[in-house]
Amino acid sequence: MAGNITFTMIKPDAVEANNIGPILAMINKAGFRILAMKYMRLTKAQAGQFYEVHKERPFYGELTEYMSSGPIVAAVLVKDNAVADYRKLIGATDPSKADEGTIRKLFAKSIAANAVHGSDSDENANIEADFFFSKLERF
Ligand code: RTP
Ligand code: MG
Repeated sequence: MAGNITFTMIKPDAVEANNIGPILAMINKAGFRILAMKYMRLTKAQAGQFYEVHKERPFYGELTEYMSSGPIVAAVLVKDNAVADYRKLIGATDPSKADEGTIRKLFAKSIAANAVHGSDSDENANIEADFFFSKLERF
């Protein structure tokens, strides 16, 4: 059975553009409940650790630089089929290819500054949630 949590970040471009509120409203409207949440700024080393799977990719340096360039909102979201349903809500990685009405179509600036992160599997959702939140921070 598909899992019921996913992990998201509202990325620096969306925070800078004052889009935390509209994005959280879309998340709630789509039926996700917030299990955990924090507002923080990653160091470049922490961003590098979070995106370790992309270490060999050509955009890794740009990605970790960007993800540590300003504050982000990190959150764990609850819903049946959370990972797939959230990927549907955020849209394609490249906002020019994202469906109408998706978070990235509405708020992303570019493929790098694409407004939000969403886990790509149940396994990674748990790893990513554990990277940011202790048991005491989940409600
Ligand atoms: P995310 O992990 O952030 O939810 O995004 P995703 O699954 O849709 O895309 P992924 O392939 O995991 O890539 C992670 C993030 O790296 C940046 N990226 N830049 N310059 C580029 O060609 C490029 N490709 C990917 C994006 O910020 C992407 O969200
Ligand atoms: Mg990804």
